[in-house]
Amino acid sequence: MKENILITGSTGFFGRHLLSQCQEESCEKKNIIAGVRRENEAKVDAQIGQFEVRPFDFFNINTFEKALDGIKKLILIRPPALKNTKRYILPLIKVAKQKNIQHITFLSVTNTEKSKMIPHLSVEKYIIESGIPYTIIRSGFFMQNIKRLAGNEINLNQTISMTAGNGKVNFTDIRDVVDIAYASLVDASLQNKELEITGNKSFNFYEVAEMISKKAGKKITYTKPSAIKFIREKVKEKFSVQLIIQMSAVCNRIKQGKAEFTSDDFERYMHRRPRSLETYIMETF
Ligand SMILES: NC(=O)c1ccc[n+]([C@@H]2O[C@H](COP(=O)([O-])OP(=O)(O)OC[C@H]3O[C@@H](n4cnc5c(N)ncnc54)[C@H](OP(=O)(O)O)[C@@H]3O)[C@@H](O)[C@H]2O)c1
Repeated sequence: MKENILITGSTGFFGRHLLSQCQEESCEKKNIIAGVRRENEAKVDAQIGQFEVRPFDFFNINTFEKALDGIKKLILIRPPALKNTKRYILPLIKVAKQKNIQHITFLSVTNTEKSKMIPHLSVEKYIIESGIPYTIIRSGFFMQNIKRLAGNEINLNQTISMTAGNGKVNFTDIRDVVDIAYASLVDASLQNKELEITGNKSFNFYEVAEMISKKAGKKITYTKPSAIKFIREKVKEKFSVQLIIQMSAVCNRIKQGKAEFTSDDFERYMHRRPRSLETYIMETF
């Protein structure tokens, strides 16, 4: 019988990558269920609608029980705007415990222990304390963010505009994170582990601009605008306020050197090297 797996945050950036790789690999032994805020919209969404969808809202505890009915494993993706984890995520973990959920895979960020202000750390703690078997995937900064956040300006202005200073980033291919997330549902060696998943080398945005320049055959310049100028630029590009706040916070972490750290956990557990930034750039630009 197929295992029912509930995914929260399935309509977001990571969630969609997770679902699209599931289609590619056909997820034979899994019945993937997308927990969504807007059920009707999700049902007609070309990507999400191919899966079973269930109403799920972190802000509405009444949706938890039904969403978790018959679910064996949970892939927990925390919405970036959700900061009060005690109020909105701890109750979900409690319901998961009551419902006898057998595994939680949680998407976290690298080096949580060193940034105690990051909400992911408390979520990790709630999961571990619940006694539910888990895999915590502390992922580095996705390479795919380069196109998501700077793709338009690279095309239109030949610039990459970030407030990350000279800070280096442990660019991580989102496809590797998806691979290990699916592996965590079946691989006993990944149980009850906090994994630091990153690419194997860190780069700053000058180096990224140079690599894209070489591939694209035109000069791409990394500009380091002031925080205010950056916000103005992104508002003009019609980025959501939430994403701009998120980008600014991430750039701050990068600038402070908190995103440079790399780990070999991916290779240790997945028995292959992580995809490289060079490969991503060759494929994308
Ligand atoms: N970007 C990176 O490089 C990176 C690296 C490591 C870890 N992460 C972590 O990955 C996580 C997800 O990031 P993302 O970029 O995929 O986020 P995102 O694109 O903003 O997606 C957020 C998802 O959460 C859903 N959501 C928002 N509020 C909700 C609520 N009240 N109840 C239920 N669902 C709700 C959204 O649904 P709607 O469609 O209804 O809005 C959407 O599906 C974050 O915790 C982030 O810190 C990101």
